[in-house]
Amino acid sequence: MRSLVENHIGDFLDILTYQKKEWIEFWKKLPYKPITDNYANKFDGFYEKLLSISRNELTELSHWYDENKENIRDELTVRIRKSARDFQLSKEDFVIYLIVGIGEKDWIVVDGKSEKVIVFDVYSIWKKGKIDKLADAIYQSVVHFRHGELEGNYYDKSEIFEYLKKQIVSAKNENLLEMICKLLDEHVPYYNWTGFYLMDDEGMLVLGPYVGEPTEHVRIPVGKGICGQAADTKLTFIVQDVSQETNYLSCSPHVKSEIVVPIFRNDGSVFGEIDIDSHYIAPFDNRDKEFLEWIAKQLMVRTVHWDEFKRRIKIAYIDSYLSYLLSEIIKYNVTYFVDLYVFNDPNKVPENLFKLWRISEKLSCSEIKNIYVVDKVEEQRAVLYSEIDSISLDYNILNLPPQDVVFYMIKNLREEMAKKLFYIHYQATRLAQSFINSKLIIKYTLNKDSNINTILYAFLTGITAGYAGSFNRAMFFYYTDEKFVFQKAIGPRTQEEANRIWEAIEDIELNMKDFLDTVSKDFRSALELLYEGKTIELDVVKKYTDGEAHVISKEEIPELAETFDILKEFALVTVKSGENILGLIIADNNFDLKPISDYQLTVLKDLADQMAFILENIRFFETVKEKAEIDVLTGLKTRRTFEEFIQNIPLNSFSLAFLDLNKFKMINDMYGHEKGDEILKKFGKCINMNIRKTDIAFRYGGDEVIIILNTTEETIVEKVIGRILDCFSSSAGMTFSTGVAIYPAGGDINKVLKLADERCYKSKITGKIEFEDSELNS
Ligand code: SME
Repeated sequence: MRSLVENHIGDFLDILTYQKKEWIEFWKKLPYKPITDNYANKFDGFYEKLLSISRNELTELSHWYDENKENIRDELTVRIRKSARDFQLSKEDFVIYLIVGIGEKDWIVVDGKSEKVIVFDVYSIWKKGKIDKLADAIYQSVVHFRHGELEGNYYDKSEIFEYLKKQIVSAKNENLLEMICKLLDEHVPYYNWTGFYLMDDEGMLVLGPYVGEPTEHVRIPVGKGICGQAADTKLTFIVQDVSQETNYLSCSPHVKSEIVVPIFRNDGSVFGEIDIDSHYIAPFDNRDKEFLEWIAKQLMVRTVHWDEFKRRIKIAYIDSYLSYLLSEIIKYNVTYFVDLYVFNDPNKVPENLFKLWRISEKLSCSEIKNIYVVDKVEEQRAVLYSEIDSISLDYNILNLPPQDVVFYMIKNLREEMAKKLFYIHYQATRLAQSFINSKLIIKYTLNKDSNINTILYAFLTGITAGYAGSFNRAMFFYYTDEKFVFQKAIGPRTQEEANRIWEAIEDIELNMKDFLDTVSKDFRSALELLYEGKTIELDVVKKYTDGEAHVISKEEIPELAETFDILKEFALVTVKSGENILGLIIADNNFDLKPISDYQLTVLKDLADQMAFILENIRFFETVKEKAEIDVLTGLKTRRTFEEFIQNIPLNSFSLAFLDLNKFKMINDMYGHEKGDEILKKFGKCINMNIRKTDIAFRYGGDEVIIILNTTEETIVEKVIGRILDCFSSSAGMTFSTGVAIYPAGGDINKVLKLADERCYKSKITGKIEFEDSELNS
């Protein structure tokens, strides 16, 4: 076989032995006519360009050449021989000349004496720093020449593939296949049709996304064509010259070569394949194979098993620890990028990696930059990086419990970031303590012995206890008629008292429960006595009644500061239920005079919210109780309430009046129940309107009423009953009978009730209020 590549570099470099003014002559005298002339003619102003070459550069090139000429020969021979069959070199009528040209074009085809000559300018490629790729570049020029191109520049496949890999790992998952087709088509000069075939349930390869001429081969059976063979053998197929391949499905006469790479599932079955057609003969080599196989591997995670990966990411459980940590980290405004190195089998991916994946997708402060599919389970890791630092969570770290991963990060992050993380943990501890305290307070307030006094005391203790709100003093005001009325306070009155308390505290156990256990129902602090009866007008604090905790300096509301002896500043929060104001809390550090901290405000606000909840709860139960106690028709208290009354009589003595309507049965029978109800309503109304504040009236039966009058004096009883009678006879035109007995003079309550009932019966006959037993009975 004749030599396809003729190396004339040495001859051309001899130019360096001449002075520059002789260079043109040197060139013209070179013994390669007509090649040198034809070559020079391809350039405008060739000889000027020749003269403008820097001698220094050429000298450097000659040094390189002296060192490498032996290698060049070997390398070229190997490379060309390897492709001899594909190139069908025996039939070729061209030759490659290696020369030193003007460094403008890597290769140009010119006419030689009897054949075409690819003139390859090593100076051109040397200038681009690609001289070490000379063999590859020469090979490439042949591929393009055979495609009919007459000049060209070298492109470095490895560089193109590296660039494309970067694009793919950082690409979003939506339409990934389409995107890959477009990318490859755009960036690889000899990829002329790029597409995917995906295996369907019936084992057919079905055409997927592609870029290039439409093809009629939309369904290919396994075994048929190059695609079918690749699926069948599960091997990458390279056909450098399709005309030599018998089992080939032609798509277009332009196609000269093809590479097909199977895409596998985890179980090794074929999911689909990448198919590339080229209009060039023998353009593919191992680099194409490796690159396309790399893509196939990436797709195992991001296409083949993506649904399962997506599911695992979605169910990656972010526990309260992590979610708190993350919500706090967001406050610091640090942005982290994440590179994920994932194994293709979701069952072998650490749970923490899925968590990180989920977090990075959801959180504004982190972003997934690259996803790499790795070959080994142990190669899995996550790299977090920001502008200032980076940390790699390797496989063994990712397998630790989340708190250990965070601990590892604290140890290995830059100090500033580690401090932030540690601070978040510190805050969490305080919040947890405050939560435990509020839990104790609430439990305490729900105790059956609690009353409003102990409830308020418990909350104010929470605000002032050192391991909770740690304010020096706290006061509660309830809200009524556009003002806040002082109700309860806790804390020392004077500095001496404060010192005494602090000394005492050293000796007792520091926990909330101990403190709460010391509260008695009737406890009133000395501070409380000091401010009894004081009020704050709503207007004075109106702008702070949004329900948030505010720090207010003494100067801002001087009148308030003066009334409550505030020395520097105080915290204020309104106790609110929705828009409804229930009360107000003021707290200060009047004795240690420490500035009010954010933490104190947080605790204050939390306790105020809980207090609102408890106060609303009390109100709710009062309403429910009231509903059960009041008879709907008459507005009087129910019989059940009367039973409760006699179980636990709250008065030492009273008069019990038994009232019964006259001729009520007749009205009911004649006019019906509606009319009867109307009369009962009027009866109840007259009673409620005319009894005194301290009297209680119960509906005992149908038209029977019992009134407990807080008096034992007959005249008063007569007066009240008389008023009711006047009211009733004028509004309903009816009368009632009344019997009265005195408790405890008449005996026990049941006896007294019986007496009153009997006297009422007597009253029916006499028409008077009866205080005495009938003569018949006595
Ligand atoms: N040439 C393929 C058919 C598909 S096209 O290349 C788009 C083959 O022989 O399987």
